[in-house]
Amino acid sequence: MERFTPAQLEEAACRVAARHEPGRVRAALVAGSGINLAAPGWEKSAEIPYVEIFPFPILSLPGHTPTLSVWRRGPEGLLVFNGRFHLYQGYAAAETAAIPRLAGLLGAPVYLATNATGAIDPAIAPGSLVVVRDHLNLQGTNPLIGEWGRWRPPLFPDMSEAYDRTLRAAALRYARAVGFAANEGVYAGVLGPSFETPAEIEMLRRAGATVVGMSTVQEVIAARHLGMRVLVLSLATNLAAGVSESPLTHEEVLEVGAQAKGKLLDLVQRLLDELRSEAGP
Ligand code: HPA
Repeated sequence: MERFTPAQLEEAACRVAARHEPGRVRAALVAGSGINLAAPGWEKSAEIPYVEIFPFPILSLPGHTPTLSVWRRGPEGLLVFNGRFHLYQGYAAAETAAIPRLAGLLGAPVYLATNATGAIDPAIAPGSLVVVRDHLNLQGTNPLIGEWGRWRPPLFPDMSEAYDRTLRAAALRYARAVGFAANEGVYAGVLGPSFETPAEIEMLRRAGATVVGMSTVQEVIAARHLGMRVLVLSLATNLAAGVSESPLTHEEVLEVGAQAKGKLLDLVQRLLDELRSEAGP
């Protein structure tokens, strides 16, 4: 398959900017399994299928609607990406990073991602929220490999505080305010798509992971590379393998995601208002 190139990304960003006028973009939101974000208080000005944006094949999973919604409020814009690209679907690292890079080129200063995870820490009940404070990239790849490292400096971006401290504190406060049990934790990013074995979960626990999932870390690296502030909200949809006796299913992940949707929307709305007040009128 042909490689997705920096020139193709830049062309895609120019096309979206010219045709859909996202305005002064305040943030980009990316929604994971079963979590369909909307933006109350904002008006949707465009809904663009990914096939019209990205030059590689677009696959969809149950629970994912692959579109970019552009929301406007006066001169301000918000990019809501409904669905992401996963390595386990066969996408290259650069393709899984296409969303944050497009958002960055369209001017988004903040990259806010949600995802579904398995709880490694037994104290984290399904349905609770983990505000990611750090990650383990165990996916065996990196979105800065090859031409993408030459595209923009730095080739070796600092990852010592990849997850924005101020946004994390706000997220934790609002998560609890909207009724989530919420704590900070470390996200272990694995390749998937098989769920982990109990032995793998034990290894991840000893390595310091709080939750495990199959997405997001490539996106975070790419977003930090472009200097965006990053916030990742992980919904614990299940106890990880071996933490609970019961077998894991994708349906369970989608169901818990659907149940938490209202609270997650409420949380995102409050975070957007916080960003607005940070930026001033
Ligand atoms: N493991 C990996 N990814 C996941 C899980 C899990 O248990 N739950 C939701 N995404």
